[in-house]
Amino acid sequence: MFDLIIKGGTLPDGTVADIGITGDRITAMGRLEGAEAGQVIDATGDLVSPPFVDPHFHLDATLSYGLPRINASGTLLEGIGLWGELKQIVTEEEMVARALEYCDWAASMGLLAIRSHVDTCDDSLKGVAAMLEVRDKVKGYIDLQLVAFPQDGFYRDPTARDNTLRALDMGVDVVGGIPHFERTMADGAASVRELCEIAAARGLRVDMHCDESDDPMSRHIETLAYEAQRLRLQGRVAGSHLTSMHSMDNYYVSKLLPLMAEAGVAAIPNPLINIMLQGRHDTFPKRRGLTRVKEMQAQGITVGWGQDCVRDPWYSLGTADMLDVAFMGLHVAQMSSPEEMRRCFDMVTIENARILGLTDYGLHVGAVASLVVLDAGDPIEAVRLRAARLAVVSKGRVIARNPRGDATLEIAGRPGMVRRRHPVA
Ligand code: FE2
Repeated sequence: MFDLIIKGGTLPDGTVADIGITGDRITAMGRLEGAEAGQVIDATGDLVSPPFVDPHFHLDATLSYGLPRINASGTLLEGIGLWGELKQIVTEEEMVARALEYCDWAASMGLLAIRSHVDTCDDSLKGVAAMLEVRDKVKGYIDLQLVAFPQDGFYRDPTARDNTLRALDMGVDVVGGIPHFERTMADGAASVRELCEIAAARGLRVDMHCDESDDPMSRHIETLAYEAQRLRLQGRVAGSHLTSMHSMDNYYVSKLLPLMAEAGVAAIPNPLINIMLQGRHDTFPKRRGLTRVKEMQAQGITVGWGQDCVRDPWYSLGTADMLDVAFMGLHVAQMSSPEEMRRCFDMVTIENARILGLTDYGLHVGAVASLVVLDAGDPIEAVRLRAARLAVVSKGRVIARNPRGDATLEIAGRPGMVRRRHPVA
């Protein structure tokens, strides 16, 4: 007797299996013919995946688009300035309310684990308090991992260092940084060193905004890899964005990527936001704003797609849909072969789970019973359609049901249902 059975779904590897769930765990996989359950979801012909994971987000700023004004230049730097104005006037309650609304969007989209950077450059630390409250409020259905993020510079902002340490003392999970925003390259490198030492001393993971610029000489990822190696943080460090790598010298990159692989440093490109923000100082040719994704993967570096922003000072769109993120990443990185398209799906599920260090993630006996039923036949089709989430299960509970994405056609002579699903012949 199971609490819930997901019947007949196709797993991302193409196998067809029933999934038996008891409490918050997957307790059986395979053919569960005749088994009884309190609830059954028929997923015959549909893709059943472990939940989506977002390794890079800003939950303290989300859903604030237009407050107090929009980003006229569309640049990262104006966005930082705009957020600087907004964080003076936003209240803790408003941040909590917006973040919880976003978590509702995420839950409905099967996005059940989020790593969110929280700004620590505000002496009141109201954003940190707000996000800790949200982390607690959503813990029954979303795993929220918080990164202490000195947005205005760990050294450049006079109180950021103290405030970042205070945020970690308050229970923030991961150490962040923004070395390319410090006053000099030397200060940036020093900030990477000190922040990694703080993480090592506290037994925490590291995730830094790193080289988020079009400057080919911005090379903080080199320092981040060096410190990960020196402090034995392999597998616990991620560099977010890494956009400058698109313009680095090829010879230099041929040395850099093996160093990243050796240091076990993961990469988190954010294709929606960086195709929008980068290259704004270029005329033509105009750079694409994305780091070297396939080249890193070829070196064995873990790479996961992140969302970064939804309706905030940096990005005006977004729906908490990690398939939108994979879709954009697939295009900008030119990941067009079947293997590469398939990998883009993994990059918003299992690869991101690895970056967050999620334990008991996945579809296997003993794993946490969190999954999403998609209106698609396979992972590539899920990306192509940004497929409807027919059902979302979190920790054993069905938390969302959505309709199929089919349209009813009313053209004279050809009435009927339009199915966008289109299996490979
Ligand atoms: Fe970010």
